[in-house]
Formats: sequence, C-alpha cells, structure tokens
Amino acid sequence: MELIKIEGGKSLKGTVKIDSAKNSTVALIPAAILAESPVTLENIPQIVDVKRLGEMIGQLGGHYRYDGDGNEDFIIDSTGIENVPLLDGPVTKLRASYYFLGALLAKFKEVKIGMPGGCYLGPRPIDLHLKGFEALGATVEQDAGVIHMKAERLKGAKIYLDFPSVGATINIMIAASKAEGTTVIENAAKEPEIVDLSNLLNNMGANIRGAGTGEIRIQGVDRLMGTRHAIIPDRIEAGTYIALAAAAAEEVKIDNIIPHHLEALISKLQEMGVDIEVNTDSVTVRGKKTIKAVDFKTSIYPGLATDLQQPLVTLLTQAEGIGKVEDTIYSDRFRNCYELNKMGADIDVVGRTAIINGGKSMRGARVMATDLRAGASLVIAALIADGVTEIGNTYHIDRGYANIEEKLTNLGAKIWRETVEA
Ligand code: EPU
Repeated sequence: MELIKIEGGKSLKGTVKIDSAKNSTVALIPAAILAESPVTLENIPQIVDVKRLGEMIGQLGGHYRYDGDGNEDFIIDSTGIENVPLLDGPVTKLRASYYFLGALLAKFKEVKIGMPGGCYLGPRPIDLHLKGFEALGATVEQDAGVIHMKAERLKGAKIYLDFPSVGATINIMIAASKAEGTTVIENAAKEPEIVDLSNLLNNMGANIRGAGTGEIRIQGVDRLMGTRHAIIPDRIEAGTYIALAAAAAEEVKIDNIIPHHLEALISKLQEMGVDIEVNTDSVTVRGKKTIKAVDFKTSIYPGLATDLQQPLVTLLTQAEGIGKVEDTIYSDRFRNCYELNKMGADIDVVGRTAIINGGKSMRGARVMATDLRAGASLVIAALIADGVTEIGNTYHIDRGYANIEEKLTNLGAKIWRETVEA
C-alpha cells in the first residue's frame, strides 16, 4: 500500500501555481473526439484522470500525445476512432467517462459503455443525462451495468433539468452540438466548467449560446473541426490551497487563478477572519492564530462548492467555536470527518450535516483518503498536526491534485511517499 506521509507543524511560505481545471479537462477530452482534425488542450493537468481518458481514446482507436517541455499540451487526434464498446478498464475508474455517452452518441448515433466510476459520495444517479438523450431521440437500455443508446437521428429538443446537474448539462451540450435543429437546456448548470466546454465546442465550430446562465441554446451543426484551447484554472484546487494556507501558512500566494470563480469561498473565509488579499489572478493568504467558526451550506455555482466543503471542515477544526456544515449536493460526503476525529478533531455527523467543535489540536495518525476531496482535507489536517500523519488510498488524491508533494515541498512542507505492507 502506498502512503503519503506528512510531518506537520511547518509554517508554509511561498507561491503555489494552480493547474488547469480537472472538471473542465475531463469534459473537454471526450468532447474533442467530435472534431475531424486534432484538438490541442493547453496546460493539461498532470492527473491520473487525464491518463485514463487518454486510454479510453486509445481503446476507441484514436490517438493522444503530450507535447512541450513540461508536457503541457495534450493533443487528441480522433481521426481513427471507431465505435468500440467501452465496457471495462478505465471507464469504471472515473465519473467523467460518462461524457463519452454524449460524445459517441453524437459521433456514431450509437454507444455502449459500462457504468462510470468515481468517488462514492452517496448515490449518484445519471437519470437526468439519460432523459436528456431520450429527448434528443435516443433509445436507452441498461443491462448488467452497461448502457446502450441508439438513435436514427438526433433532433434538437427543449430539455428542462429537474436539478441543474453539471454532468447532465455537459453531456446534453456535447450530444446536441451535432443534433439537427435547436436544443434548449433549461435549469442548466452554471459552473465555470460549462462555459469552458462551450468555448471549446464553439471554437470547434459549434453554435452554443447562454453557457453560464440557466438557459443554454445549442444550434446543431454538421461538422466540428480541431482547435487549440487554453483550459481554465482549477477553482477547486485553488480553493483547497487557499483553505490549506489559511490553516498552515505564514504567507502563501495562490497564483494563476480566477478569483471571481471563488467568491463564495473568499467571503466565507473573510467571515472567519482569515487574512486574504485578492488580486487580478492570484490571492495571498496570511495565516492567523485566531479564526472564528462559521456555518455554511454547499450549493450550486455561484454558491459555495461541495468540492470545497471537506477542506473547509478541516479548517473549522482550528476555529474558535462551533461550525455547522450542510452538504445539500451529496448525501454522504462527510466520511473524512471520521478520519479527522482519529487525528484529534471533534466532529459529529448527522445525515447531511457535520457539527465541528473547533479549537482542537491535531496529532499524526494513519488515516484513509475515502475520496478525492477527503484526501485533500486530510492533507491539510496533516500539515497542522503534531507528528507524522500517514494517508492511505493515495490514488484518490492523485486523481485531482497534480504534483502535490512538489507543490507542498516548495512551500516548506515535509511530505513524502512510502510503500508499506498493507
Ligand atoms: N444527480 C441526479 N441525477 C443526475 C445527475 C445528478 O440525481 O442525472 C444528482 C447527483 O446524485 C448529485 C447532484 O445531482 O447529488 C449533483 O450532481 P451533478 O451532476 O451536478 O455532479 P456531477 O456532474 O456528477 C460534477 C463534478 C463533481 C462536483 C459536482 C457538483 C465532475 C467530473 N465532477 O459532478 O466533482 O462535485 O459536479 O459541482 O465534473 C470532485 O471534483 O471532487 C467532484 C466530485
């Protein structure tokens, strides 16, 4: 078993450069297979999910390669792609593999793939995606964990989402970009990653208006071509390092970000008394001895992102007073709290709510990253704990945080990996 080990108690100082957004990238790669010539994604994040999507392109008969000194460009050439069923292997390892549903349906009018994997955060149905595909004219069959969709033709439709699901909005946008006529998605998700996808597809030749609002209009086109695209910065990686700096930094600059994407987080941290200076494309956090507990609920964008809830819970263990956190998006995203309690935290979880009794000293322990952002919350806890913390299930962390040891070492942390007997 591989462990990330962290010796806590170092005061962090310096600059951390944020990578491109994971949750954009994982939609952009499947969308790129609709282009009839290569698509180049600039500044690709060096995360495991990208490799897995690349493997899926390979399974389909397409090609991808990295280019540039730091492997910063990711070039997807889908000219040889065939409609091969994606039943096992990488498809089961990440959630975003389901974007091949929309992409292959648009390209071949038929698709067969296994159910996606990804973090367990409570049940994560994909009914809204499938209803959207049906509205566009596809028949959907599900059998033994395999989804099979077929359409004579895809025809634009008006689709109202019962919930503004990020994944369903993205999948329908991808499929509708090559449907006949106009598709209107109402109650669409507004996350910045949706706007990023719309920009890529439009640069490939699609006709999409309204991304970033609750109503997205997609006028289908016959052909899409290759392009170059610079991916937006990762607001969740940025928010994680901001929370981390609030907990453990003397002074850390979080660079290469769009602060506007993080407004809900920044104002919540200001309410806690965190010293945070906002600049055009960076923020600087100066750690302070005293922070106040706050309550918050996660919500859809521009509200406070559920993906930042777990890192913030760790920060609340250090605040004065009692904080109450409700996750309105996922029913089971507090499993990190049990691990934090092993390190000295005092957190009660009741359903979708965590009550954090702050002001606790943390101590090193062996803990498990139960999902990606749980891993991030444990890394923050380890940085402020006395002694050495050993974090298992490191593969969760590697799905979303590129070069985490290097980034934290540069800030003065003591962090390393070790493989031990399970
Ligand atoms: N939902 C349904 N039916 C659907 C789709 C969603 O009931 O058909 C429910 C889900 O079960 C969940 C809620 O709606 O309770 C939100 O789901 P959404 O579809 O918005 O999320 P997602 O597309 O599955 C993406 C990110 C998540 C992030 C959420 C919310 C990717 C690959 N994943 O998931 O990221 O939490 O949006 O912003 O983009 C992470 O990065 O750690 C992560 C989990």
